[in-house]
Amino acid sequence: METILRTEDLTQEFGGLIAVDSVNYELRKGELASIIGPNGAGKSTFYKLIVGIQKPTHGKIYFNGDDVTDLVPHKRVEKGIAKSYQIVQIFPKMRVIENMAVAAQYRIIKDKRGFFFSSWKNEDSLKKSDEILDRVGLRKMRNKTAGSLPQGQKKVLEIGMALATDPVLLLLDEPTAGSSPVETRLAMDLVKDLSKTLTIVIVEHKMDVVMNLAERVTVMDKGKIIADGTPKEIRNNKLVQSVYLGESNA
Ligand SMILES: Nc1ncnc2c1ncn2[C@@H]1O[C@H](COP(=O)(O)OP(=O)(O)O)[C@@H](O)[C@H]1O
Ligand SMILES: [Mg+2]
Repeated sequence: METILRTEDLTQEFGGLIAVDSVNYELRKGELASIIGPNGAGKSTFYKLIVGIQKPTHGKIYFNGDDVTDLVPHKRVEKGIAKSYQIVQIFPKMRVIENMAVAAQYRIIKDKRGFFFSSWKNEDSLKKSDEILDRVGLRKMRNKTAGSLPQGQKKVLEIGMALATDPVLLLLDEPTAGSSPVETRLAMDLVKDLSKTLTIVIVEHKMDVVMNLAERVTVMDKGKIIADGTPKEIRNNKLVQSVYLGESNA
């Protein structure tokens, strides 16, 4: 299948620390892939490099065959790369629908000043926002303040806000962090549903969460990819087991 995202020797150093170490990653269009690994493995930094919040020390990023390594974040959004947190974090005092509308407006008015200073309460962005709230199952919470939502629903709202930018590639960073088991299940169902139309990478600290969800699992440790395979292969991988064992002993 066609490659949508590819990194070549992607490296991020922070002082003496190599957070992402010569990562060669390839993602195929339509995949529901996962990246797992212990805390500090470099997963979030890898995402930041993909969306352009962080500029790599070394290496290249290709999206749909184009070199996007030097593109600013909003240009990558225009190309269809979205990550929760990338554009806006939740505004806790604003209502759910307003949070969504701000995110939707970003796509409608692409330029940065427009994003912050134009009115987002227009028909286009509200209509689109309601459609997405339906899609992610938050319609009932439409008029609640975002800050009052339970953690799991805040996470779902973040996914919704990422969807508002019309992505083709959706990067999720621990979308169930702090969620209850029920909320986790709902979020996983949502991800599965979204994956019918989007390419998705889900970064997870919890191995069990992705094992039933992802078609392919990549394991990072200390900035490097140490394994890549089906959930079953990864589960049986001795090196991966030792990394997780080492963590629980730490
Ligand atoms: N801006 C930064 N400056 C310095 N070190 C950082 C920065 N961001 C991340 N790190 C370090 O890089 C390593 C990888 O972090 P991170 O990508 O957040 O890991 P993960 O998401 O897998 O838990 C960690 O050791 C972390 O402390
Ligand atoms: Mg992280």
